[in-house]
Formats: sequence, C-alpha cells, structure tokens
Amino acid sequence: EKGTYAHYMLKEIDEQPLVTRKIIQEYRAEDGSLHVDEEIVAAMKESDRVYIVAAGTSYHAGLVGKQLIEKMAKIPVEVHIASEFGYNMPLLSEKPLFIFISQSGETADSRAVLVNVKAMGYKALTVTNVPGSTLSREADYTLLLHAGPEIAVASTKAYTAQIAVLSILAAVTAEARGFALEFDLTKELGIIANAMEALCDEKDEFEQIARDFLADTRNAFFIGRGIDYYVGLEGSLKLKEISYIQAEGFAGGELKHGTIALIEDGTPIIALATQESVNLSIRGNVKEVVARGANPCIISMKGLEMNGDTFVIPEVHELLTPLISVVPLQLISYYAALHRGCDVDKPRNLAKSVTVE
Ligand code: M6R
Repeated sequence: EKGTYAHYMLKEIDEQPLVTRKIIQEYRAEDGSLHVDEEIVAAMKESDRVYIVAAGTSYHAGLVGKQLIEKMAKIPVEVHIASEFGYNMPLLSEKPLFIFISQSGETADSRAVLVNVKAMGYKALTVTNVPGSTLSREADYTLLLHAGPEIAVASTKAYTAQIAVLSILAAVTAEARGFALEFDLTKELGIIANAMEALCDEKDEFEQIARDFLADTRNAFFIGRGIDYYVGLEGSLKLKEISYIQAEGFAGGELKHGTIALIEDGTPIIALATQESVNLSIRGNVKEVVARGANPCIISMKGLEMNGDTFVIPEVHELLTPLISVVPLQLISYYAALHRGCDVDKPRNLAKSVTVE
C-alpha cells in the first residue's frame, strides 16, 4: 500500500535506505562477515568470464556490476542487452558464467537468452526481487534483492538493490580468490544507507531543481565519465519514461563527437562529478556546453565540489557512488513528471514487466 504517499514511485525511492540495510542483514553471516551461497561463489571462481544479461534499468545496474566485479574480484565481465543477445551472441569464453539481472524475473527477452544458454550447457545465476519467478526457477542459482514489491513502472529501489547485491557478490568472490579489499563493504553500505536517507530528506531541493532545469524543456542531456556515465544512462531513462522529456545519457568525452550540435540556449545538461580521477575532465565538458548556452545542473560529491555546483552528495567509496548519485536523479525525474501532470506510476505505453519478446 502506498499509505500517505501520492505515488508508489516516491514511496519506493524513500525505501532505499531501508532496503540497503535489509540487504546487509540478509547477506551477513553469524560472525558478521558478508556471505553468499558457496555454490554461487564456486561458480564465480570457476568462470573465466562473466556475461551479464538484462534489460532497461537492470541493464544499467549490470554496467555498474561489471565495474564492481572487475575491480574487486578481477574477473572480466561483459554486459549485454537481453534483446540483442539472441542475434548478436558474442564469442564465448571457455568457462562462461551468465548472470541475469531482473527485478521481476519475468522479462521475456532475458528468459529467451537464459533458455538458450542453458541448452548450451552453461551455468546461470539470476539476481531478482521475486522468489519463484521464471528466471529464478530456470537458472541454477538465485540471489534475492529483498527490496519488497516494486509497483511503480519506473524502477528505483530495485536498481540500488541490484547494485548493492552485486557489490556483495563481487566482495565475497574477491575474498575467495584471495584478493583483499581495501575497504569494509558492510560498513560502507551502512554509510550509504544513511547518505540515502539524508538525500531523501532534501525533497524540496530536488523539486526546485526540477523546476529550474526541466520545467518546459523539450530535451535534456546527462553526462558523466566512468561510473558516472552509467548512472547518467539510468537518470536519462528515468526522466524520459515518466516525464516524456527526450533525455539522453552520454560519456562526457563523446559529446564533442556529435551530440554537442544539439546544445542550444537553455538546454539542460545534468552533469555528474563523483569520481576524482575524471573530475577535471567532466568539468571541462561542462564548460564546453555552457559556452554553447547550456543550462548546467552539476551534481558533485563532497570533497570534489566546486563553486556553483547545484547539489553536493555525501562522500562514499568511489566504486559505490551510483548507490547514492542516482537518488537525486530519481527525485528530479519524479518532480519533473509531477510538474508536467504526467501519470508518474503508470507512464503511457509501458508495462511493469515486459513479458513479450
Ligand atoms: O523486471 P526487469 O528488471 O527484468 O525489467 C527490465 C526493464 O523492463 C525495466 O527495468 C524497465 O526498463 C523499467 N521501466 C525502468 O524503469
């Protein structure tokens, strides 16, 4: 039930701190360490390459998951759009492990790939919010999101839950492979839950940002570098599906290769700056678009902020920033859609789970 909330989407955004804490609890062993089923860890250890397959927001979580698994567990990862995989099957490694990410566990495009790779004799793990869902039943292993039912068509808490669970899988696999992490993931996820809460308390601020940047715009661009680019892709999907503003996410450095032609006076550019190593280059991209008249909304992380930034998010570990940098984007999209009188929970032409290919 949505209780006092006007929309499920807002309720589900607000549930993210709780869900993050629940995930820590669910994946914690008695001795306090993080724990994932041994057979899943063994399958990760045995594989020479992980293939993540998903659609929409789950695909965007997969892009972040690739960074987490590669950087922490040091296993190469490819991320594929489920609907493309059938026609465009990549050359597979000798010992592939497939990870299907799906909130509903019912996405037909993903299921088609699962059926195919199972027939080829490969192992598959499903990361889903729904126990007993088709993708969970048909895969060899399942990791649950523990996010509670997600009703709004626009996925929010499932995205952060997917990233949190993938970070735990990456950390446990890293340990099993003998790679020590230079940070305490449980502690970091706790800090993140608190940071999410702080962001959810700033709703007025995000409502104002939506008014300032998205009130009557036709289009909007999201830019970022590295992991921020992936979060920008998710921000643009969120904005377009509920507000119908044409939105696109770009890698900062790619702008000058074409997209910059679309910048006009007043075009909103939402830039993410949470990564120290690319802070100056993304700032350079912002300057380029501002020189062409863009209206820049800069969301940076504490410690990397500069004068004039629109909003500064709390500081967390650089690999885990998507868990909190996405929250402002979710809230800004929500208010942009609300101001435009859109049906936030049930956007036109969309269904919660896409059960046809
Ligand atoms: O249930 P799934 O995670 O497999 O769904 C995948 C996409 O259909 C879903 O993420 C969709 O893109 C959402 N509407 C995004 O908000």
